[in-house]
This record gives sequence, C-alpha cells and structure tokens, in this order.
Amino acid sequence: MSLFSTFFSKPRFVIRPIGADQAYDCERLHAACFAFPWTKFDFESLLTDEHVLADGAVSDRLLKDEVGGIILSRLLPPDAEVLTFAVAPARRSAGLGTELLTRHMANLERGGARLIFLEVGEDNAAALKVYERLGFKTIGRRENYYKRPSGERQAALTMRCEL
Ligand SMILES: CC(C)(COP(=O)(O)OP(=O)(O)OC[C@H]1O[C@@H](n2cnc3c(N)ncnc32)[C@H](O)[C@@H]1OP(=O)(O)O)[C@@H](O)C(=O)NCCC(=O)NCCS
Repeated sequence: MSLFSTFFSKPRFVIRPIGADQAYDCERLHAACFAFPWTKFDFESLLTDEHVLADGAVSDRLLKDEVGGIILSRLLPPDAEVLTFAVAPARRSAGLGTELLTRHMANLERGGARLIFLEVGEDNAAALKVYERLGFKTIGRRENYYKRPSGERQAALTMRCEL
C-alpha cells in the first residue's frame, strides 16, 4: 500500500475496549451526536468505573487513532444497561453501529450479563433498526423521557434483550 493510499483510504475500524485515555475522543464524538452531550470529565468518571464496560470502534490510522463509535454499559450481572451508544455522523449507515453493538453484547455476556436494557427515543429510526436487528424487544414506554433542544419532550421506549 502506498503512503498516499494509507493516508487517504477509508479507515478500517477495530472494535476494542476503551479506557479513560479515550475520554477526550468520547467527549468530541458525543458532542457530534447528541444535543446534550457529556463532558470529558463525565467520561473519565465512567471509563474508570469498575462496573462500566466500554467498547470503541477505533481506526487503524498511522498517526492518530480515529474513534468512529462508542458504547458504554453498566454491568451488574445478570443485568446490563446501555448508557450511551453513538457512531460519528460521517461513519453511519455502513454497519459500524451493528458491529459495535454485536461485539459489545458478546463482551457483556462474557461478563455475566443475561439481560440487557436500554432506553431509546421512539422516533430514533436508525437506533431502533440496530436494536431490533440484534434481538431487542420493546417492553415499555416512558412518556416525556427526553428533552429536545426546542424544549419539546419526547417519549422513550424501554427495550430488553435476553442473551
Ligand atoms: C444509532 C447509531 C449508533 C447507528 O449507527 P450506524 O453505524 O449508522 O448503524 P448501522 O449502519 O449498523 O445501521 C443503521 C441502520 O439504520 C438505517 N437508517 C439510518 N437512518 C435511518 C432513518 N432515518 N430511518 C430508517 N433507517 C435508517 C441504516 O440504513 C441502517 O440500516 P441497514 O443496515 O439495513 O442499511 C447512529 O445512528 C447514531 O450514532 N445515532 C445518534 C446517536 C443515537 O441516537 N444513539 C442511540 C441512542 S439510544
């Protein structure tokens, strides 16, 4: 592979555990994905919590890793709860979210999870597609759960996956 193509080809992503040294990348990714993003400090706290399992889709770039996606869950066997899940806007709809969640679920299962819970905006079609594809079922609805930047409230669906 030439130096040119190494720099300008699409990055390949590997799914691997991430730690507090990735807190700044997580902050940046979150800010690109959510209206009310979490801070570097929030991520440092979560990524050093022994009950939080975190995976990232990290590129194989030569000079600087690109974090293309992250997922964090609280794991208290037999239950786990997805805390946040995001793929960078430029990397979406290419299967990365599905791959990241698939690997993360396997890691949760290895850690003792038998049930995984999450909340998702009922209008979040992309996320619902990924969750349903991987076996999550809607078990409830929470009215006014999310606040939009406009101030409008949005219902969330509670989903659960049995491993
Ligand atoms: C949810 C998210 C992580 C999915 O990541 P991704 O890498 O795009 O996921 P995938 O490519 O594996 O799958 C997305 C699927 O949704 C589809 N999709 C994307 N936008 C869609 C839309 N507006 N309506 C319907 N389907 C849509 C894609 O085509 C793809 O389906 P396909 O694989 O059958 O083509 C990403 O959209 C994201 O970061 N969203 C913002 C943050 C968020 O909402 N997180 C979830 C919080 S609960």
